[in-house]
Amino acid sequence: MTARADFNDRMLSLGLARVAEQAAIATVNLIGRGDEKAADQAAVNAMRQQLNLLDIAGVVVIGEGERDEAPMLFIGEEVGTGNGPGVDIALDPLEGTTLTAKDMPNALTVIAMGPRGSMLHAPDVYMEKLAIGPGFAEGLVTLDMTPRERVAALAKVKGCSPRDITVCVLERPRHEDMIAEIRSTGAAIRLITDGDVAGVMHCAEPNQTGIDMYMGTGGAPEGVLAAAALKCMGGQIQGRLLFRNDDEKGRAAKAGITDLNKIYSRDEMVTEDVIFAATGVTSGSLLAGIKREVGFYTTETLLMRSKTGSVRRMTYRNPMH
Ligand code: FBP
Repeated sequence: MTARADFNDRMLSLGLARVAEQAAIATVNLIGRGDEKAADQAAVNAMRQQLNLLDIAGVVVIGEGERDEAPMLFIGEEVGTGNGPGVDIALDPLEGTTLTAKDMPNALTVIAMGPRGSMLHAPDVYMEKLAIGPGFAEGLVTLDMTPRERVAALAKVKGCSPRDITVCVLERPRHEDMIAEIRSTGAAIRLITDGDVAGVMHCAEPNQTGIDMYMGTGGAPEGVLAAAALKCMGGQIQGRLLFRNDDEKGRAAKAGITDLNKIYSRDEMVTEDVIFAATGVTSGSLLAGIKREVGFYTTETLLMRSKTGSVRRMTYRNPMH
């Protein structure tokens, strides 16, 4: 029985990259075909199959939904061969199903792994999020500040004008007031139609992406995945769960969450060292999408370990079968 083996993040990381790669490759014939569900299902199947090849005793803590609504990779599903360390897994086999169906930028396959108990069991509700990149004092910007105050605080420590700050926001009617307030400071807004894991990750590399801050409400599971990414890349994220009704509050209770108004820091969402992999499905500002060439597919994968802060960008050539 090896289920109590150490979480050997170094050895497991390449296996995690393979999982992300194969989930992406499984979607290749569904990019731009207008069928979100089929694209998601293809990624889910491939991710599950690859995970089950790994020598881990894994449990999905952030997955495709509750057991009764998701037949595969549901929250609580056990994955892996069972011969290896007990690990928590957070995954989104296809982050940006609509982006994939419409062949729009920044669709990714995403997975993070850490020792048992290392990740917040966030229910499938909304989360208010705020993120900035590395190198700033903890709490420089907070969810309790207004959008205007956040822009001003960041501009002040960067020694620039609010006009030089770019904020990434999901384009949704619920964000109209926030967008107007950010614009009134002079700051620029990069609107994205979907994919806030990538949106948050953009903050970690502001020189490449041009994005300084992420604000707004999106999925809570995506918030935990984004926290895992920033734990590896550097940067801060805060998240507050939002509940629209009693059913959603019930999901929180089931996940063991009692303080419904708590603001979670990055390290409260992801409490121990983790590994993180994401493969580009469609090309975007973080990763290249899948390329088809004669006889093979090429993918690009970001593979990161929080213990070392190592960030690898790996290309993979996979023969077509
Ligand atoms: P899917 O890939 O599941 O479609 O999620 C995409 C996404 O844009 C997430 O990145 C984001 O957190 C969430 O949807 C926002 O939810 P909503 O579309 O309900 O505003």
